Amino acid sequence: MRNDEKSMDEIISFAKRKGFVFPSSEIYGGVAGLYDFGPLGVELLNNIKADWWRKNVHEKENYYGLDSAIFKDPRVWEASGHTKSFSDPMAECKTCNTRIRVDKELEKLGVQADEKMSEAELQELFDTHKAQIKCPKCGGSEFTEVKAFNLLVKSNLGDFSGKEENPSYLPGEACQGIYLNFKNVVDSMHPKIPFGIAQIGKAFRNEISPRNFLFRTREFEQADTQLFIRPGENKDYYDKIKEERWRWYTESLKISEKNLRWKQHDNLVFYAKDAWDIEYDFPSYGFDEIEGIHDRSDYDLTVHSKASGIDLSYNENGEKFIPWIIESSAGLGRIFLAVLSEFYDIDEMDGKKRTVLRLPHKLAPIKVAVFPLLKNKPELVAKAREVFDMLRYEMPASFDDSGNIGKRYRRQDEIGTPYCVTVDFDSLEDNTVTVRSRDDGAQKRVPLSEIFSFVKD
Ligand code: GAP
Repeated sequence: MRNDEKSMDEIISFAKRKGFVFPSSEIYGGVAGLYDFGPLGVELLNNIKADWWRKNVHEKENYYGLDSAIFKDPRVWEASGHTKSFSDPMAECKTCNTRIRVDKELEKLGVQADEKMSEAELQELFDTHKAQIKCPKCGGSEFTEVKAFNLLVKSNLGDFSGKEENPSYLPGEACQGIYLNFKNVVDSMHPKIPFGIAQIGKAFRNEISPRNFLFRTREFEQADTQLFIRPGENKDYYDKIKEERWRWYTESLKISEKNLRWKQHDNLVFYAKDAWDIEYDFPSYGFDEIEGIHDRSDYDLTVHSKASGIDLSYNENGEKFIPWIIESSAGLGRIFLAVLSEFYDIDEMDGKKRTVLRLPHKLAPIKVAVFPLLKNKPELVAKAREVFDMLRYEMPASFDDSGNIGKRYRRQDEIGTPYCVTVDFDSLEDNTVTVRSRDDGAQKRVPLSEIFSFVKD
């Protein structure tokens, strides 16, 4: 099935029904922009992260992993520019108080608002097009003045005054922890430039209008790499990182090239000199960003050197300089949604419609399911449990004896399990089992002594 034949509503309801993604705090009515990953979702998410980590840390000689604290000294966000410049333009509907993101509403009309525009300039642009903009909730057309709304989420960690005078901030972007540990990594690991630091971390943004399921949320995870290079070598490394990141999606995650594309930013955020996004063609939503590659030049290490008073330059054989940075920053929630969208399929098998999640083996939450042919034959159940025990210590496996075999196959197809193993009466005699493959339904008799290597990949 092509993506334009799938619907996002169908994928959202599938994700909930099958235990991949739940609305957060659902028993209290849910909270906009927050989601929880369910039993199968957390496995899929962890598999995506593990693959990213393998490619960006383990398989690279000069990349170092990191896991920095979520909270940081509040001065970090002053120095980085986020307290001042990390904002979206907002206006409020005068009838129902719904907040709209002015730049996104203008974008829908084909009008581009520049990141660097002042509030007054934005107001002018908004006024010009206001007649065509309607409140998404009540349809109203009267709005308040445009205001820059800062996206940082505040907390009172370490502030006992009770007056909320000295807020600390949740990270607006996870990568700041990397810059703060640049010197620690250099001093402890002695890397030769160019080298990278990689981290998966949480980010929080007070998004004005969270939307499109996992696409724009208020809490999300970013998988970031920061490559530290000599000044002026940005052009060479930028293209190399772009190529590597593209290959991760197409070769490692097996996302088809036709559903991906590059988009260069016309409007650069305050820290970037150049920015390209990898976009995915989401069902119902169309192409939108899943990862950004940013040329951050010497911006980050310079601002933190100045604000902290600690010299963050790199010493290469006596020559000292502030390294420049090429960043790749991927949103894991968006990649998760792209993976679900890509591999969700409806086809026909044995004359019947079936839902199948054609995940690559390494991403499948459960790698193998084991069934006794009949539930009411204790000898078959015992043997099937023996096989299940053999497998589950090696890979995520599940045991199922409810309903008929056909139904069990369909349940596993839906959640992307690549193989089903059935124990029957012959198994008791000759220690062989039937292995059935998800994608084409093909069945093969396999000796138990070979089962592990057969279902492993
Ligand atoms: N450190 C650079 C940075 O944060 P960004 O383009 O703002 O750059 C990087 O974010 C990635 O994080 C995006 O490509 C997207 O995948 C993800 N992301 C950003 N805002 C998000 C949101 N509100 N909800 C879910 N993912 C988001």
